[in-house]
Amino acid sequence: MTYNIALVKGDGIGPEIVDSAVRVLETIGARYGHSFKFKEWLAGGCAIDATGTPLPEETVEGCLTSDSVLLGAVGGPKWDGLPGNLRPEKALLGLRSAMGLYTNLRPAKLYLALKEECPLRSDIVAQGFDLMMVRELTGGIYFGERGRREGKYGPEAYDTETYSVLEIERIARAAFETARKRRRNVISIDKANVLETSRLWRETVHRVAEDYPDVTLSDMLVDNAAMQLVRRPSQFDVVLTSNMFGDILSDEASQITGSIGLLPSASLGATKRGLYEPIHGSAPDIAGMDRANPIATILSAAMMLRYAFDLSEEADAIESAVDAALNEGLRTADIVGASGIRPLGCREMTDAIITRL
Ligand code: IPM
Ligand code: MG
Repeated sequence: MTYNIALVKGDGIGPEIVDSAVRVLETIGARYGHSFKFKEWLAGGCAIDATGTPLPEETVEGCLTSDSVLLGAVGGPKWDGLPGNLRPEKALLGLRSAMGLYTNLRPAKLYLALKEECPLRSDIVAQGFDLMMVRELTGGIYFGERGRREGKYGPEAYDTETYSVLEIERIARAAFETARKRRRNVISIDKANVLETSRLWRETVHRVAEDYPDVTLSDMLVDNAAMQLVRRPSQFDVVLTSNMFGDILSDEASQITGSIGLLPSASLGATKRGLYEPIHGSAPDIAGMDRANPIATILSAAMMLRYAFDLSEEADAIESAVDAALNEGLRTADIVGASGIRPLGCREMTDAIITRL
């Protein structure tokens, strides 16, 4: 079977890590008899430089007509001075929105081989953790009305958080369905003691929960969740969040795995076509130096095989190869810690994963 994959490499380390994932996919294709066809599209800072806009229309078209999208990262200091709607990040938000990708799955688990890299106390590390953040991705404050105006104290700015019942219902369903494939526990994050959107969130999530009597639901305030993630991460199975709360908590969750360079994500909508990307950014400080950790992007490609193409055996093979490389003590610069191990470059780590496929 032929799968058409749109590649959006983006900026900074984006091209290096996407190239790594492509090499892994090509090896899998040869091994299992699939043909992956890749086509590149511009988005982010590189698109601003080439076309004057962060998300060219043809990129949206190219992604919408592909079977799935693999993205690196966008942004960098070069474009930091631009107004909000012309920034590279706008490409990512615009693409998620144009593709209708309202569900963002961000798994975070502790690799035993990397427990030395976990900044938590050893008794907490000993309990391990394996959670799945289900983040709403096309609504909330990142997409609400915003602007500048004159206020009581002079010039002011505002951003607004809006959530409809429909948006909350569909992300809640995604979380409950995800929980059914895991440990059947959902913790829904909100700030219902202050925010009206959170009160609607809580009400709606509880109503949807009636359709999932086999899944346990509890609520947790976001400030408490930030604390519980470092206090006892093992209590979390599926973590259901709004767009902004998920953005913040997923970075926190990634750090307790040892490195943000390890965490993949899948952005899904109503169709099988999704967008797969590492949760980290473009790391301009190490761009082009062959120092990036390719694992988050390689694991994102594995998620693509699993979710977009139903190729779970192939996805398992990639995840096992990553496990094997880490278990054998192979490390990139972000995860060497104080071990004294010589870190592998992005290409070398990719080669090591490919030989373990
Ligand atoms: C992420 C990133 C993006 C987000 C930015 C770059 C727009 O932080 O994917 O977590 O906030 O969603
Ligand atoms: Mg983020």
